[in-house]
Amino acid sequence: MDQKKLAKIAELRVKLGEYPKIDLVNFLTPIEPLRNVSADIGLETLVKREDLVGPAFGGHYAHSMEYVFGEVIEGGYDGIVQGGPSHSNQNRLIAAICAKLGLKAHLVLRKKLEVDQPDIGNLFLDQLVGADISWVTAEMGPELDGEKTKRYLELREVNGENPYLFRRDRISLISTLGMLDFFLKLYEQLDRDGKIPSSIYLTGCGPTHSGILLGARLIDPSIKIVGVRPLHWDAQDIVSNEVNTAAKTLGEQLAITRDEVVNPAEYVGKDYGILTREGARAIQYFAMKEGLIFDPVYTGKMAACFLDDAHLGKIEKGSRVLLIHSGGTPLTLLYSRQIYSELGMSLMNPSP
Ligand SMILES: Cc1ncc(COP(=O)(O)O)c(C=O)c1O
Repeated sequence: MDQKKLAKIAELRVKLGEYPKIDLVNFLTPIEPLRNVSADIGLETLVKREDLVGPAFGGHYAHSMEYVFGEVIEGGYDGIVQGGPSHSNQNRLIAAICAKLGLKAHLVLRKKLEVDQPDIGNLFLDQLVGADISWVTAEMGPELDGEKTKRYLELREVNGENPYLFRRDRISLISTLGMLDFFLKLYEQLDRDGKIPSSIYLTGCGPTHSGILLGARLIDPSIKIVGVRPLHWDAQDIVSNEVNTAAKTLGEQLAITRDEVVNPAEYVGKDYGILTREGARAIQYFAMKEGLIFDPVYTGKMAACFLDDAHLGKIEKGSRVLLIHSGGTPLTLLYSRQIYSELGMSLMNPSP
């Protein structure tokens, strides 16, 4: 790696070092070559196995949570309040981290709406690790944020507890910094292996895309970052704002426009959390070619976009592409019936 890049990585590490951080990621996940896929589509395809990191089926968000929980521990809080859909990977990871740290996880979960799946999978794991769950019917976004604040005030004022509230703006910033930290380690690993890619595919509509894009723009802008949104939010707006806020916070001279954010909308399908046909086919393709398991809500939608881009010639033949497997393993099992049905597979009955 050239001196300029090395110096920039060191400088960013010093800046990140000003934020409190705890240790949740104790090993570097592998970057694996996908040889069968590479031969099939004519692109050198690699996968970064962030599905292997962190407690309770983990996921890439463990990197961001090192910083978020750094704040929780430094502030002397006795628990956290976070919320989301009942299938949320992030809530399950947070609840497991709380169990590890001896903190109370208060999760405000959105009651089953039409698009939600039966209450197994992550919801089961939330309960298994001892989370305190309250149910609301709010929509994702400001409405759910309002419910989280209500629960937070109730815990403080009625129960006399002292939880840390996951406030959207603060968590977006800190999580983006955590993903920037992830990118620095990833870039060093790729460089060591002589495997710097021409593009990186990931799924997300927030800090995952923002932190990785920020890192790429600061260290190696030749890498194209493609995010694939899992829900119908304005990813270009959210990601450009998060990149610019994080850059400003770190004192970096970088500002991007929404048009510089590549994050297609057409792979969401009907709605967040709903399996798409292309997603199901992409999950089956990677499973059968590589024994690699993606999920229907996040990584499967990324995989569908990647395969389309490869087949439509949007990625230069022979070039190297890295896919970020960001986790979500419990969701594949949660959606097994939908996947069976979408792929026309028959359910086997093993009972005699
Ligand atoms: C497996 C997985 N990948 C990617 C993401 C995207 O995260 P974000 O849009 O917050 O960056 C999530 C969010 O929970 C996730 O669970």
